[in-house]
Amino acid sequence: MKKQALVGAGFALALLFSPLQQTFAAQSTGDTKKVDNVAHRGASGYAPENTIAAFDKAVHMKADYIEIDVQQSKDGELVVIHDTKVDRTTEGTGYVKDLTLEQLRSLDAGSWKGEEFTGQKIPTFDEILDRYHGKIGILIELKAPELYPGIEEVVARELKERHLDKPQNEKIIIQSFNFESMKKTNTLLPKVPIGVLTSSKVHTTSEALQEFSTYADYFNPSYGIVTKELVNEVHEAGMKISSWTVRSQETANFLLSMNVDAIITDYPDYVDKRN
Ligand code: G3P
Ligand code: CA
Repeated sequence: MKKQALVGAGFALALLFSPLQQTFAAQSTGDTKKVDNVAHRGASGYAPENTIAAFDKAVHMKADYIEIDVQQSKDGELVVIHDTKVDRTTEGTGYVKDLTLEQLRSLDAGSWKGEEFTGQKIPTFDEILDRYHGKIGILIELKAPELYPGIEEVVARELKERHLDKPQNEKIIIQSFNFESMKKTNTLLPKVPIGVLTSSKVHTTSEALQEFSTYADYFNPSYGIVTKELVNEVHEAGMKISSWTVRSQETANFLLSMNVDAIITDYPDYVDKRN
């Protein structure tokens, strides 16, 4: 049984006899269930992805989490960018892993999205932790960790330095498409919730879900493979389910109807009209 499930089992027993029991029951049934609204690469429908402009916009829109993609510079610094190359979102060229922090920070990561964003930079991981922890949840994706041997230890060190390795309210989550990296991260940070990402149905069998549940708290599929049955099976395996990536109101409505626990979206307002 995964770490959160063990803690949860004890909590559930205590809750059964608590006056809070009815309140919690009401929150977890029917219309009152709250879906976590996760701003994908920040509110990236409205501002350049993985920049302070997009993350500030997500805070302003009252999203529950920002999702960030973490990679590593040539000189070992953790940076927040999605592609393994800088070409699409900056005026530079080449792989993130071949550029120093200074070279990466000299790039303009905003103007491709609109001239009003000129001067936005590739953020560092430290900068994001320091600026947003406590203000909004942070869903940390280790992007292509196979390119960065040892990145899990560096991420763990940054979180521990800030005492974010024991998040009381589970507002720090780490996820990746690389399952071995997530197993390792679970060992390094046993109290931080872990997610596995996939867009493959191969990973939705009950055997696969059972295996994931030994180290993960979240099973995070692309919306194209989400069904009500899958949502139930993930819950039965003791995990939560967050799905991605919403870029239309129709997709948001579909995922809301599937009863997923979190929706990862470029447009936080599609998930919650108040945003
Ligand atoms: O958080 C899920 C999503 O970010 C995974 O896909 O390619 O946008 O990192 P990608
Ligand atoms: Ca991502």
